[in-house]
Amino acid sequence: MLDKIKALQEEIEQISVSVKEEVEDLRIKYISKKGLISQLFEEFKTVSPEQKKEVGQAINTLKQFALDKINQLKETFESNEQESTGLDLTMPGEAIKLGSRHPLSIVRNEIVDIFACLGFTVAEGPEIEDDWHVFSALNFPPEHPARDMQDTFFIEKDPDILLRTHTSSVQIRVMEKTQPPIRAIFPGRVFRNEAISARSHCIFHQIEGLYVAENVSFADLKQTLLYFARELFGEKSQIRLRPSYFPFTEPSAEMDVSCSICGGEGCNVCKYTGWLEILGCGMVDPNVLEACNIDSKKYTGFAFGMGIERIAMLKFGIKDIRHFFENDVRFLKQFESAQ
Ligand code: DAH
Repeated sequence: MLDKIKALQEEIEQISVSVKEEVEDLRIKYISKKGLISQLFEEFKTVSPEQKKEVGQAINTLKQFALDKINQLKETFESNEQESTGLDLTMPGEAIKLGSRHPLSIVRNEIVDIFACLGFTVAEGPEIEDDWHVFSALNFPPEHPARDMQDTFFIEKDPDILLRTHTSSVQIRVMEKTQPPIRAIFPGRVFRNEAISARSHCIFHQIEGLYVAENVSFADLKQTLLYFARELFGEKSQIRLRPSYFPFTEPSAEMDVSCSICGGEGCNVCKYTGWLEILGCGMVDPNVLEACNIDSKKYTGFAFGMGIERIAMLKFGIKDIRHFFENDVRFLKQFESAQ
């Protein structure tokens, strides 16, 4: 039996393996329950009492030897693996970098939330539009200067297909599809053929609002806008409405909000007037309702429209509109906490 043990020991000494899986095969072959060394322990029962001590020690030594050999083989494979993949599985993980919302999204979401509290739903329309939805249905006379090539991007020389110059076009799309009561806002991107500067861009964003129902009055418009201004700029805010002109509203107005930076005292942001111009608004012109097959004798409505960039610039003190479109992370990072 001692010879057998010695032979096994020599066999194990000679072993070399080339793939990791073979190490496991060896373990099974020699030291698993049915392995060769376990069989020796079975045979040990038949050894004569005088030999028991010597043979017992020899088997134990052999078992330890086999275990050491297998562990050593395993380790060489593991350290080789680490070197070849360059991976250290004990390294701590890398923190995931979180992005932040774009300032225009922050302001848009805030405005949408304010109007949602008043029961306004949100709808969107196409950016590539036709003349009817951007101009004709909105009561623009055929010779109106806003249709001029100066302002509008036309698509492939077809004067009927264009990039919308305002989100008022979505009013028409919604009124064509729905009968009053309608109470909705329409955020979206608009395009104008303007030179890019610190104050204007050829792409910008607007939010349009529309409320059409029975007995909607100018007083409703004024109170809605006052609520909006106080939610967005603080409860001390005041508003004032100045008479203005838009083809699709009659009467029309422009709304100013008291300057939230100087509290109306006068500063360089409000150009020492104490007021900031925020939006255009008015009572929906009956011609517009009729163009969408809405009975203008039964229903009245108000509408308003504002530029998101302008409001974001006032809220965050941003001096150049181009920052919104350049995606410089040094700029964007400053809004991480404003989500
Ligand atoms: N569409 C106008 C613009 O782009 C803004 C506007 C003014 C929208 C008055 C309205 C409104 O709904 O009633 O300048």
